[in-house]
Amino acid sequence: MDNYNELSKQAAEILAEQVRKKNDSVLGLPTGSTPEGMYACLVSMYKNSEIDFSAVVTFNLDEYVGLPPDHPQSYNYYMHSNLFDHVNAKKSNIHIPHCKEQDPDLICREYEQEIKNAGGIDLQILGIGTNGHIGFNEPDQFLYTKTHLVELTEETIEANSRFFKSRDEVPLKAVTMGVGSIMAAEKIILLASGESKAEAISEMCSGKVTTRVPASLLQLHREVTVFVDREAASLLKK
Ligand code: PGA
Repeated sequence: MDNYNELSKQAAEILAEQVRKKNDSVLGLPTGSTPEGMYACLVSMYKNSEIDFSAVVTFNLDEYVGLPPDHPQSYNYYMHSNLFDHVNAKKSNIHIPHCKEQDPDLICREYEQEIKNAGGIDLQILGIGTNGHIGFNEPDQFLYTKTHLVELTEETIEANSRFFKSRDEVPLKAVTMGVGSIMAAEKIILLASGESKAEAISEMCSGKVTTRVPASLLQLHREVTVFVDREAASLLKK
């Protein structure tokens, strides 16, 4: 893709196509700055009657632990202000893991069960961290397959501090779908924009799979499409 706008439009078009084919599609959705353009396109498509969310079921990838759902930096708040407040998705079809510190394991197990009960994810949209994370599956010696509680890495805390007044306000923990929950989706689209993602994209597509670059596991999935702009693609070998 030439630029971010193009990438956002194409991603929205693929998602809309999925919903046109199957109106009760189960969508896995990301947050972060990368998908903002895609959500803006989806909202304008909805206003032009080009997409109907009334039967769509959504599962968000992750959520911070310790932020109330109405906190402006919570992913719940993000999803409502970027998408759900502007389209006709049913409240009961929207799933965002909300984890009170007390019982993360139960919340995680229930979230997995809800995905299963919905019939599994048809289309999962992903961003990628500068360190190669997907969801909040951070580089490590091993990765969890299922939805789980995670301690965020310094790099992620640093990267996400731009959204908070100070670095100290960034939550240290989150709940995230595991790499197995992500890999179980029928189709996956990963979006990356900007030079800061170039290294992660190049490592992800290297041909080697390593838990040190969680996104590299996607090479094992049968239907992944990666949408990158010129800058994010700049370190890919020709
Ligand atoms: P970003 O985050 O879109 O804000 O860069 C992506 C991610 O960390 O997955």
